[in-house]
Amino acid sequence: MRILAIESSCDETAVAVLSGQGDVLTLESSLVRSQIDIHQAYGGVVPEVAAREHLAYLFPMITQALADAQVSAADLDALAVTAGPGLAPALRVGVEAAKALAWAWHKPLIPVCHLEGHIYATWLDTLTPPQFPALALIVSGGHTELVLMRGHGSFERLGETIDDAAGEAFDKVAKMLGLPYPGGPQVEQLAKLGNPTAFSFPRALLDKSNLDFSFAGLKTSVLYKLRENEASLADAKFRADIAASFQEAVIDVLIKKTKRAIVEHSPKSIILAGGVAANTSLRTRLQTLGAEHQVDVHVPPFAYALDNAAMIAVAGYYRALAQNFIDPLVLSANPNLDLV
Ligand code: KG4
Ligand code: ZN
Repeated sequence: MRILAIESSCDETAVAVLSGQGDVLTLESSLVRSQIDIHQAYGGVVPEVAAREHLAYLFPMITQALADAQVSAADLDALAVTAGPGLAPALRVGVEAAKALAWAWHKPLIPVCHLEGHIYATWLDTLTPPQFPALALIVSGGHTELVLMRGHGSFERLGETIDDAAGEAFDKVAKMLGLPYPGGPQVEQLAKLGNPTAFSFPRALLDKSNLDFSFAGLKTSVLYKLRENEASLADAKFRADIAASFQEAVIDVLIKKTKRAIVEHSPKSIILAGGVAANTSLRTRLQTLGAEHQVDVHVPPFAYALDNAAMIAVAGYYRALAQNFIDPLVLSANPNLDLV
C-alpha cells in the first residue's frame, strides 16, 4: 500500500510518499517547506499569508515528492491529508488539493487529524514502534494533552490544558524576552546557559488529582518577574536564568502529570508528540521517567518532531488499512478537529 500525504495546517507545506506492508513502513520521500522566514516579520503566523504560500508551493512539491520516490500517480493506493486542527485558510489549501487529486486520480482519500499525525511520527525510522496501550503526551503550539491509545485509531483523552498550550507558553515567553518567532527553540537555547532553579515559577494543578494542565499563570508570573527586574532585561545571565527556570517549570509539570498517568493506566509505551518534542531537556526527562517505571519511551526523530507530511502518511496508512476513507466531495477542512 502506497500513500501520498499532504500537510498544510500551519506554516509548513509538506508532502510525503510512504509505502507499507503490515507494520513495515518505508518512507519513500518527504519534503517540508517552512515559511518561518516570512512570518517572522509579523511575530507569528498570518493565516492568509500561510495559505498563499501553500498554494504557490504545494503542487510543485507533490510533483517533486513523486519524482523523489520514483513513482507516478498510478502507483499510489490512497491520498491522506491533514483535515484539522489548524488555521482554516491554510488547512483548506491542502484539503482542497487532496480532494481534487483524489477525484481526478480515482484514489481513496483519508482525512487525518494533525495530532494523530504527531503521535505517528514515533513510528518513523524505528524497528520497534510503540506498543499498545500507549500513553501519548502531545505538546504542540496549540495543544497539550495526555491521550491513551489502545490500538490504531483508538484514542481516549485523559487530560488537557485548561488554558495555554505548552508550546504557546514557550512562544509567549520568547516574545517577552524579545526573541523571534517561533520561540520554543530560542528559549531552549537560552535556557542551556541559565540556572533552572534561579527563580521558582508556579507549577499549576499539581495538587489536583486530575491529568489537566495550565500554563497561563506561569506565563503571567514570568511577565511580572521581567517587569520587576526591568533594569536586568539586557543582562545575559538574568535572561538565561529566566528561560531556564521557565522551561524547568513547564517540564516539571509535564513529567509529573505523565507520571501520574503511568501509575493510573500502566501503559506499555510512552509517546512524546508535537513540536515541543524537539526540546532536548523534555526528551531526556521523559526517558528517565520511562526508565524509572520500566516503560519504553518513544520520541519522534528530530527530523519529524515539527510539522511534516511523513507523520500524516503513517497515520493515513493505518487508517487506510482500516478502510477509513471519505468521499472527496464531502470532506472539508475542520480547524477544530479533535483526536477523540
Ligand atoms: O507541532 P508544531 O510544529 O506546530 C503545531 O502543531 O502547533 O509545534 C510548534 C510549537 C511552537 O509553539 C514551538 O515554539 C514549539 O513547538 N517548539 C519548541 C521547540 N521546538 C518547537 N518548544 C520548546 N522547545 C523546542 N526545542
Ligand atoms: Zn504540529
